[in-house]
Amino acid sequence: MPILTWSEEYSINVAVIDEQHKRLLELVGELHAAVEARIDKDELRKMLVNLAKFTRHHFETEEKLMKEHKFERMKKHHKEHRALHKHLEQLVDVVSKGKYPTFYSDYDVSNDWFLNHVLKFDKKLGEYLNAKGVF
Ligand SMILES: [Fe+2]
Repeated sequence: MPILTWSEEYSINVAVIDEQHKRLLELVGELHAAVEARIDKDELRKMLVNLAKFTRHHFETEEKLMKEHKFERMKKHHKEHRALHKHLEQLVDVVSKGKYPTFYSDYDVSNDWFLNHVLKFDKKLGEYLNAKGVF
């Protein structure tokens, strides 16, 4: 999986979310590079904890907007967030137990988030918010 970089096609046309998605992509890119470089497990763990923290903050931002604007697909979207977050916590666990994540399987968060979540779920949220005058 090549490291993903930001592209306008990922934009959901809501500034605060786009900015957070850009930051997430940076963090995910750094994570992928770190795994490939096989950095020290403690360092890797720190990066993962950081990523999980930022992700939580990001999901909270999205969920707050959904609530404020009564987004009808909120429940499904929340469920998806919880699954992604759980995946990250499992990764932290794997590394905490002294294992190294395996390429393409355990740690490939860019695929899950960007090619899947952002394009499928967040795009719809963006369209909905835009229609409510939120950009
Ligand atoms: Fe989302």
